Amino acid sequence: MTIKEQLEEVKNKAKAALEGITGEDLKASLDQLEQIRVTFMGKKGELTAILSQMGKLSPEERPLVGQAVNEVKVYLEGELKAKKEALSALALEKKLRDERLDVTMEGKPVRQGKKHPTSIVLDEVKDAFISMGFSIVDGPEVELDYYNFEALNIPKHHPARDTQDTFYFTPEVLLRTQTSGVQVRTMEKMAPPLKILSPGRVYRIDEIDATHSPCFSQIEGLVVDKGINMAHLKGALDVIAKKLFGESVTTRIRPDFFPFTEPSAEIAVSCFKCGGKGCPFCKGEGWIEIGGAGMVNPIVLKNCGIDPEEYSGFAFGMGLERLTMIRFGITDIRQFYENDVRFLNRF
Ligand code: PHE
Repeated sequence: MTIKEQLEEVKNKAKAALEGITGEDLKASLDQLEQIRVTFMGKKGELTAILSQMGKLSPEERPLVGQAVNEVKVYLEGELKAKKEALSALALEKKLRDERLDVTMEGKPVRQGKKHPTSIVLDEVKDAFISMGFSIVDGPEVELDYYNFEALNIPKHHPARDTQDTFYFTPEVLLRTQTSGVQVRTMEKMAPPLKILSPGRVYRIDEIDATHSPCFSQIEGLVVDKGINMAHLKGALDVIAKKLFGESVTTRIRPDFFPFTEPSAEIAVSCFKCGGKGCPFCKGEGWIEIGGAGMVNPIVLKNCGIDPEEYSGFAFGMGLERLTMIRFGITDIRQFYENDVRFLNRF
């Protein structure tokens, strides 16, 4: 075969190989393209092999053959480039076809969430107290024994601790059993006059049943100023009771015991279903208990560096789930934590 014929053959083989690339898969096609380049134009490719025969030629023939080889080389380079461009165009077209977005398609409806019933009640309580000049204060759920018990006049081995067993990280660090520790933290940091409301989660080792949960929420209130007395406490409780349960509701305070208040009181609201006459909702009592309260014990004021001769204060604590259950007639506390939308959608 003459060199001319060999060159013609290389050209035809390369052309046929290029035509064999379908372009279905861009990556595979580009690999094939590179393979063709190496086969025909690489260092060990077929054109190089033809050039190496030049030594056998006469000096007159050499430039002519050199030129012919070069022409084929330029031709093949052009073909490869054209094929590469065609492949990219094909790939883009395929991509556009595959990823087309049909903007006329109907969207999926967005399901709108709702406020949790305890959040509804908490927001109402907050609004009422903010309007009376209270600030909202936060406290830690992982608390020191000192703030949860000791500073609140509940020393180690005090029987009041029995009803408030909890999870201890160390003998001095625990999950708080009540929000009352925030009273102490606030009084340590700020000077009277003080008016704060502190809602938050608390923990107790309690068996789960319709009215008990090992994790629940309380709302703590604290007022410290000159001349604060129990009438101020009663007034504040009346405001919140009317706000939550209606204008006709009244509050009742009866003696109770908490180590950190003296005197201490149990808070109840008159039953808003029967107006206090007694019905199944209030279990015939006419009154529904909602929390504890009292005048801040002078020992606690002293523990926080406040002079009980100069200042006095009242404090109260209410269970948020309990308030919400009464407000909406919910009978099982577990429903608050189950996240069943059928329950949540009722509010
Ligand atoms: N912390 C008390 C409890 O959890 C409630 C309370 C708060 C009582 C503030 C008096 C004053 O039972």
